[in-house]
Amino acid sequence: MPNKNRISTFDVTFKNSKKVPFQRWYPYIEGYSPNFVFNLIDKYCKDATLIYDPFAGTGTTLFASDKKGVNTIFSEVNPLLRFLIDTKVMVMSLSESERRKLASDLKALIPIILTEVEGYEPSEELNLSYVNTFGKSLYFEAEQYLLILKLRSYIDHKRKNNQSLIADLLTVAVFSLLLPVSYLKKQGDVRFKTEDERVHQEYMEDLLPNKLEQMVEDIENFSYSISMKHTMICENAKNIGNAILNDKISSVITSPPYLNGTNYFRNTKLELWFLRHLKTDADLRFFRDEALTSGINDVKASYIRKCEQLNSTTLKLTLAELDCNAYDKRIPLMARCYFNEMLQIFSGLSNKLENGAYLLIDLGDSIFSNVHIKTDLILAEVLNDIGYKLEERIILRQRRSRNGTFISQVLLVMKYYRNNGFI
Ligand SMILES: C[S@@+](CC[C@H](N)C(=O)[O-])C[C@H]1O[C@@H](n2cnc3c(N)ncnc32)[C@H](O)[C@@H]1O
Repeated sequence: MPNKNRISTFDVTFKNSKKVPFQRWYPYIEGYSPNFVFNLIDKYCKDATLIYDPFAGTGTTLFASDKKGVNTIFSEVNPLLRFLIDTKVMVMSLSESERRKLASDLKALIPIILTEVEGYEPSEELNLSYVNTFGKSLYFEAEQYLLILKLRSYIDHKRKNNQSLIADLLTVAVFSLLLPVSYLKKQGDVRFKTEDERVHQEYMEDLLPNKLEQMVEDIENFSYSISMKHTMICENAKNIGNAILNDKISSVITSPPYLNGTNYFRNTKLELWFLRHLKTDADLRFFRDEALTSGINDVKASYIRKCEQLNSTTLKLTLAELDCNAYDKRIPLMARCYFNEMLQIFSGLSNKLENGAYLLIDLGDSIFSNVHIKTDLILAEVLNDIGYKLEERIILRQRRSRNGTFISQVLLVMKYYRNNGFI
C-alpha cells in the first residue's frame, strides 16, 4: 500500500515544481517542492498554527503551509526572491474578478509588448549600473542588451501609470528570462555557456510571449486563493533574535544553504541588476556578507574573531582534518563560520518557539579536499546544547562522491525543549 507520508526523492529538488502553477514562474533549483512540505506538515505538525522558514527562497514553505491552513513567518536575504514571493502573494490574494481582470490586462500585452517596447528609450541608469557592477564583462548580445534596457524603461512607465501589479508581473517575466538569453548558464553555479551551447542561444523576443502566456494561464486557471497570513519577519535570519512576535512558532520547516559554496548572490546577479539592487560591484559583496557563510569566497579572515568554540566533537575532528588537508585555508574558516552563524540563528529563535516545536531541516553534507564535512551531524551536535534534540535523521537522497564517500541529503527532525528539557 502506498505510504502517503513517504517523501519522494523528487519532492526534495525543484524537479516537481517545474510544472506547479506560480512555482514555475522562476525556476530555482535550490528549492524543494510543495509536496515535500505537505508531507512534513501531515507527518510532524498537523496542528501547527505558525510555521517559520528562515531561508524562504521562492516561498515554497509558505505557499504549501497556506494550503494546509497555517500562517507563516519567513526570512529571505535575497531581495530578488522577496520580490518574487511578494508578487505571487499579491496575485494569489486577489478576488476572482480582480484576478480575471489582471489576467486579461496581461494577456492583452502579449501581442503588442515587443512593438511597444521599441518606442522606449533604453534605461540610462540601468546601463550605468551594469558598467559600474560588471565592468567590461559581456553577458548579452548587443541587441538583447538594448532590448533589456528598453524593457526596464517600459516597465517603469507602467509603474508610473499606476499599473504596479502589471509592472511586477512583467518584471518577474523579464528577470526569469535574463539567464536563458544571456551568455551565462546555471549548472550548479552560473558559468559562461560553451561555444556548443551558444549554438542554441535563446532570445527575449521568442521567450517573453511564452513566459507571459504561462503566467496568464496560471492567473486565470488557478482558482486557489491565499487565505492565511504570511509575514516577512526579518530579511536576514541572523536577526531573528531581535524580531518581535505575538505568537509562538509551532514548527520550523526549512532548507538552509548547504556548505558547498553555492554563491546565491553571484548566481542571481543579472536578476538583481535588473531589479536595481546592484549599482556597483561593492553591492554584490554587501549581499554576500549578509548571507549565511557557505562558500569559500564568502569568508573574510576578520570573521574568525566573531567565531566561538562550538560544542561538537565531530566539528572539532573535522576542523583538525581540514587544517591539515585543505587546499585553501579559508575552508576550515568557512566551516567554522557556517556553524557559528547557524548557532546564532537557532539561539535567537529558541525563545520564540513553542516548547516541543519541531525543527524540520533539509540539509546536505559535503566534501572538501577529501574531508567529509558531515553537516547534518555537526549541526545536530551544535544545536543539542541549546535545547534542540535530534529525533530522526532521514536520508532523502544519496550519491557517491569522486573519492567514493557517500554524500547525503537528509531531513533532520529535531524537537525543541525549553531549558534544555529541565524543569
Ligand atoms: C536552499 S535555498 C531555500 C529554497 C527554498 N526552500 C525554496 O523552496 O525555494 C536557501 C535560501 O537561503 C537564503 N539565505 C542565505 N542566507 C540567508 C540569511 N542569512 N537569512 C535569510 N536567508 C538566507 C538564500 O538566499 C536562499 O534563497
